Amino acid sequence: MALAVRKFDAVIVGAGGSGLRAALELSNAGLKVAVLSKVFPTRSHTVAAQGGVGAALGNMGEDSWHWHMYDTIKGSDWLGDQDAIEFMCRMAPEVVIELEHFGMPFDRNDDGTIYQRPFGGHSQNFGERPVQRSCCAADRTGHAMLHTLYQRNVLARTQFFVEWMALDLVRGADGTVLGVTALEMETGETVLFQGKATLFATGGAGRIFSSSTNAFINTGDGLGMAARAGIPLQDLEFWQFHPTGVAGAGVLITEGVRGEGGILLNRNGERFMERYAPTMKDLASRDVVSRAMATEIKEGRGAGEHADHILLKLDHLGPEVIDKRLPGIREIALKFANVDCARDPIPVVPTAHYQMGGIPTNYRGEVVVPAGGSSASVVPGLYAAGECGCASIHGANRLGTNSLTDLLVMGKSAGMSMAEYIRAQGGAHPALPAGAGDEALARLARLDGQKGGEDVSAIRDEIQRTMQAHCGVFRFPDLLVQGVAKIRALGDRLARTEIKDKSKVFNTARVEALELENLYEVARATMVSAEARKETRGAHDREDFHARDDASWLKHTLWYREGDRLAYKPVNLKPLTVDSIEPKARVY
Ligand code: FUM
Repeated sequence: MALAVRKFDAVIVGAGGSGLRAALELSNAGLKVAVLSKVFPTRSHTVAAQGGVGAALGNMGEDSWHWHMYDTIKGSDWLGDQDAIEFMCRMAPEVVIELEHFGMPFDRNDDGTIYQRPFGGHSQNFGERPVQRSCCAADRTGHAMLHTLYQRNVLARTQFFVEWMALDLVRGADGTVLGVTALEMETGETVLFQGKATLFATGGAGRIFSSSTNAFINTGDGLGMAARAGIPLQDLEFWQFHPTGVAGAGVLITEGVRGEGGILLNRNGERFMERYAPTMKDLASRDVVSRAMATEIKEGRGAGEHADHILLKLDHLGPEVIDKRLPGIREIALKFANVDCARDPIPVVPTAHYQMGGIPTNYRGEVVVPAGGSSASVVPGLYAAGECGCASIHGANRLGTNSLTDLLVMGKSAGMSMAEYIRAQGGAHPALPAGAGDEALARLARLDGQKGGEDVSAIRDEIQRTMQAHCGVFRFPDLLVQGVAKIRALGDRLARTEIKDKSKVFNTARVEALELENLYEVARATMVSAEARKETRGAHDREDFHARDDASWLKHTLWYREGDRLAYKPVNLKPLTVDSIEPKARVY
């Protein structure tokens, strides 16, 4: 069956911060841009980012992009690529001021400058003391950012395709990416969106875990599409567990609470972070704080009847500060923990939050794959940005606020690279190969024809339970080996998923079945990569290899779907203009 084809200069999959920022760059350059999104753009998961965007503006004391760069490299446990990190930290002030000029309602200081709060791992003078670097709009920074960028895109005439799910990449015979196939949820129709350049901005896949701060839409669709197209996934063993998800609910409580002066207490009322991170205390990097909390719980000092959570105390900030700086948190604590945080502490636990790995790119947002020896080649026409891309800025552990910085900087950078590439292509779109889109049609036909198959939600639950139990904050060798076997075994069941309802119009069962295929690839890549990495680095903490091992493991993992195999590539320790920050012990 020939698919209907719609032609654009640029096709962008995902309407969160990075997709919107890239789209704006392209539309403002006079190009015809399609943005596909499973949800209305302002409901993308960027909306959940609370505490702020990191940029060395220096509004609240001395700061420099070089200190920001040092903190990001140290935070990454030296797995981040230093060229990409320098690029992001240098660009950060520019993209934040640009956003301010787009109309972003940042909190203000008395002198009119943007208010900045402290955040974990961000320091002055190469680690000496905490710095105020997080530019925020109360505790709704991502929400404000999405609305600002969406409105600018409407003005720039970006075309939005809302409630469309991208299915598969379309490539030419020479490997050039020509667009994507996509399913319109309202009608069940499948269309080929042809673009001279295609960007994946599909966010993360935090839904591989059962306890997650992530939206239900975070199913790793870009990663699944890339993996099926033969593109490796990078560094997926590194998953961030945010220290403060509401116990039992998973909803995020921003690190901005600790930035404003909130503290973590164990069952004895002890501020235990003083023992684990004497200088930065509650504002150490997230992997360090999450591990400290998990250790307190493991050793019986957790709070509550079952000693299974930690207490986040902020009543001492007073109701005025809470209502001015953290109004959303007061609301979340009331709704999800039944606690008025102006009086009582919030019960919190480390909760899966962010994937440091993703589709390998350079800092221009171009997707890169190994090309023999230590060289890499660009996949023509394909770009990735935001959480689904891996430049690699965050390495083994991301600092809070750097996700919003990343999506602004990398979204803009990818948009600029795409515009250049599109212009170089000239007028007409290349011809589509015979059978373009057949992979997606075959997947849909298999689902529609499946009889007596497997239940989608049962497999999803099994993936989530396995990932939670076998690949959490602490990683044990036998659990990892068992986890790999369990996840691999689910592959056969995945190939036989069945949807009982075959109707076309708003069939969410079909969408969930398709999402599951993406979620599965991310879970498998994560488990296989984690089992193989025999060291402790950043968020990957192995109970059998306690130390970082730079001699053997200062390298990026690449997982290939075909053959379920791994390869490795070197970390780039060379920044663009300054000296390398050489690996050393990481203490806070
Ligand atoms: O804690 C937070 O507000 C989350 C921010 C982030 O993940 O960067």
